[in-house]
Amino acid sequence: MSEATSPAPTPRILVVDDEPDLREIYALTLIREGWEVAEAAGVAEARALLEQSGFDVAIVDMRLRDGEGMELLAWLAAQRRSERVIMATAYGNAATAVQALKTGAFDYLTKPVDLRQLRLVVRSALSLGLAAAVAQTRPAPALQALVGDSAPMRAVKDTLRRAARGMAPVLIQGESGTGKELAARALHELSNRCAGPFVPVNCSAIPEHLLEAEFFGYRKGAFTGAVNSHDGFFAAAAGGTLFLDEIGELPMAMQAKLLRAVQERRVRAIGETAEAPVDVRLVSATHRDLARCVAEGSFRQDLYYRLNVIDVTLPALRERLDDLPQLADALLARIRRDQERPALRLGAQALAALGRHDFQGNVRELENMLQRAAALAASDTIGADDLGAPAGAAADRAPTPAAERAQLGPQLSPELPLDLPAYLDQVERAILLDALRRTRFNRTAAAQLLGLNLRQMRYRIERLGIRDDDAR
Ligand SMILES: Nc1ncnc2c1ncn2[C@@H]1O[C@H](COP(=O)(O)OP(=O)(O)OP(=O)(O)O)[C@@H](O)[C@H]1O
Ligand SMILES: [Mg+2]
Repeated sequence: MSEATSPAPTPRILVVDDEPDLREIYALTLIREGWEVAEAAGVAEARALLEQSGFDVAIVDMRLRDGEGMELLAWLAAQRRSERVIMATAYGNAATAVQALKTGAFDYLTKPVDLRQLRLVVRSALSLGLAAAVAQTRPAPALQALVGDSAPMRAVKDTLRRAARGMAPVLIQGESGTGKELAARALHELSNRCAGPFVPVNCSAIPEHLLEAEFFGYRKGAFTGAVNSHDGFFAAAAGGTLFLDEIGELPMAMQAKLLRAVQERRVRAIGETAEAPVDVRLVSATHRDLARCVAEGSFRQDLYYRLNVIDVTLPALRERLDDLPQLADALLARIRRDQERPALRLGAQALAALGRHDFQGNVRELENMLQRAAALAASDTIGADDLGAPAGAAADRAPTPAAERAQLGPQLSPELPLDLPAYLDQVERAILLDALRRTRFNRTAAAQLLGLNLRQMRYRIERLGIRDDDAR
């Protein structure tokens, strides 16, 4: 980093539009902010300038005399250029805005361009340079809270890192307890908005008649009971991230209002005459299959399309059993701190029992189970017995047959001294048998449950001398 006394370099912005009047208005607005501006009238001219030198931000119109703005965007993306591209799209053209974001645009503006919005978006793009510089000197700590190195978790983390570079709306899907909120927080902390607020909103927890007031705010006297003015979620999240949790529960009438806010990028508080530009990054989450809600008519297709520009699907715990030891470790560390029991640990039998449990409630259920077991354990070592029945997280679901299975498993007693290799073989055998039973001896499916490929599965089955009738 440069020393505090040396001035930061002046941000350089390239404006690409074939209308001279528009270029001039943009340029004047940006120069007034103290930024340096270069202008190009078309694709060829822009490329010539870009080949000569780099810019921090490029504002690119969709339709240019000699080609499409999207070509220029694709070219910059293919060259892995560092310019953050802001596309100017026609009002109401959701398809081009979404396509631009998917192609790697940092953000988009709708025409006619609101100059306040222009300043906000460019400012936001410029602070990204700063965040990127900081991020280079420090590995992303935000992702460390999201424990797991299995292939599906690595894919999730890659997508979050990529999504953090721009403003594209992100939809996080996954079963209950898979870590959707954690992922949303990680995304915020990875982004250039990390210094701004993270505002989580549980859409299912707000009474329907209050939704509009809560989302957009209201002015004093706007309705009976509005004794003071009140900021809505959009205002509260300005400069940061608005996290719309359980978005699938939003009633239709509110979906229409949210769509308008997303489209126009402006909101108006109840009782207010002026609209305010929106300066939030939208992240939504749902445990529902939102595409199906759209098909069934309970969720608006156009809103789904706008919110789901980047999609992150968190794997169920059963799809990433590889991560179980690491997860148990991390959750136990938290419990050790919370319960002030520094010596608390998980016995080998207990870990093996967890491997056999059917986690309908995913990581949250694992966390609840460990918390409960820690409280029940007579000593500082949690045993398989302490894990007992599934924790209450899944009260609304059919009881899982965990306890039953735990009894079917071999009685393991790791008393020291102990023949460790033989003991581990016994544990491995129990886990393999359990997976085979669950999949009705389908080796491919059983291998998948355990994060193995078929060859590894066959090798282990052979090594441990497991026969099909062992599993019956
Ligand atoms: N990958 C993970 N690493 C560590 N802890 C996790 C992970 N995923 C989830 N957790 C923990 O599990 C609990 C549930 O996570 P979270 O609230 O993010 O789930 P969710 O997907 O939002 O669930 P729901 O749909 O029920 O709201 C939290 O305590 C969280 O810290
Ligand atoms: Mg949640």
